[in-house]
Amino acid sequence: MATPDIYVQPGTPNPLFEKIVNSPRLNPSPKETQESLKRSFAKYLASDNVSPPVGKLFDPTKHLTFEEPTYIHTMEDIGYPSSNGVSPVAVSEPFRLFSEDAVNIMRSEILDPEVQEKYSYTSDIAPKQIRGYAPKHAKFIFEAWKHPETLSIISKIAGVELVPVMDYEIGHINMSVPGKKQQYDKEVLISEEDEEAIVGWHRDSYPFVCVLMMSDTTGMIGGETALRTGTGEIKKVRGPQKGCAVVLQGRYIDHQALRAFGGQERITMVTSFRPRSPRVRDDTVLNTVRPISNLSDLYGQAVEYQLENAESRIRHMLRNIRESMKAGATDVRSIKSFLDFEIKTLSHLNKEIVEESMVKKGCVGEACVEANKRKKIE
Ligand SMILES: [Fe+2]
Repeated sequence: MATPDIYVQPGTPNPLFEKIVNSPRLNPSPKETQESLKRSFAKYLASDNVSPPVGKLFDPTKHLTFEEPTYIHTMEDIGYPSSNGVSPVAVSEPFRLFSEDAVNIMRSEILDPEVQEKYSYTSDIAPKQIRGYAPKHAKFIFEAWKHPETLSIISKIAGVELVPVMDYEIGHINMSVPGKKQQYDKEVLISEEDEEAIVGWHRDSYPFVCVLMMSDTTGMIGGETALRTGTGEIKKVRGPQKGCAVVLQGRYIDHQALRAFGGQERITMVTSFRPRSPRVRDDTVLNTVRPISNLSDLYGQAVEYQLENAESRIRHMLRNIRESMKAGATDVRSIKSFLDFEIKTLSHLNKEIVEESMVKKGCVGEACVEANKRKKIE
C-alpha cells in the first residue's frame, strides 16, 4: 500500500510514537520478535495511554486465566516480509485466556433471546452471526475486551499495542452446528452441512483479530484456521478449546476457517483490533462487515475513531508548526509528509463509506474474490 506506515517529522520528538510498547517495526529476526514478546505487562500498564477499566462485572483476577501460547508464528515464519502488516506477528498458537466461568457469562449474554432476535445476520458465507449487541446487551463481554489487562495480553501476543477497533466489533459471534449433527435447535443454530456455509479464503477488514472459542470442543475434529503462506503453501493452526483464543493478523494474510465435525455446537467470538497509536497506518476496509452490519452504527463508529486519530495527529502537527514559526524555521518536508498521510488516510476512509443504497445485505462473498484470485494465480 502506498500510504506510509507512519509519518515522520525529522528532528521533532514524537511522544505518541514513543509510547508504542516495543512496536517492532524494523524488520526484526524471528528470534528478536520472540524476545520482544517477552515484555512485561507492567510496562504496558504503566503507559499513560491505557484507559481505566470500564465497569465492575469483569474481574481479571477471577476471569482471566492467561497462559502463554506455546509459539507465536511471525510473518517471516510463514514467508511474508515482517513489514507487511502493522506488526511482525502473524498468528499465535491457541492460548488459555478466559476462565470457564467468564465464558459461561459471555454465553448467557449472547444466547439471550432478545440478542438472538435483534442482532442476528445471515450472509452468503456464514449462516448465523451476531453483531453489534455490546455494550447494551452484553456488559460483561464489553468490559472483558476493554479491560487493560486483557488488552495487555492481546497486545503482548500481537507485538503491537492494540485496542478494539470500535465498540461495534466487540464480540462478533459465529454460530454453527458442525456437520453430521442430527439434532439441533433450529431457532438458535444453523447446520454447517451446506457447502455454502464455509467461509472461503479471505483477508479480514481489520488488522488483528482475537478468536475465542466459546463451546466445548471435546470430540470435535477439524475447526483449524488455514493460512496461505508467502510461498503459496497451506499452513494449519490448531483451533482453540473453550476459553482459549488465537490472535491473527488477518488483514494481511489469506486465511480460511476449516469445517469442524463431531461437536455439539461451535460458537466463536471474533473481536477485531487496531493499533492504539494514531500514527500507524490504518488499512481498515469495511467490505467484509458492511453487508452484515447496522450501517448507521458501523459508519458512525468507524468515522468517529478515525477522526479522533486525525484530531490527535493534527493537534500534534499544529504544536510543531507553531513552535517552528516561533523559531523562524519551516520544515517543508515534515509538512508535506503530514499532509500526504492525512490525504491518503481520509481518501481511504471516504472509499469505505459506501452509500447505503449500494450495500447488498448479506453479500460478503465478494470480499473473498480477491483472495481466491490470488489462489488461482498460484
Ligand atoms: Fe477472517
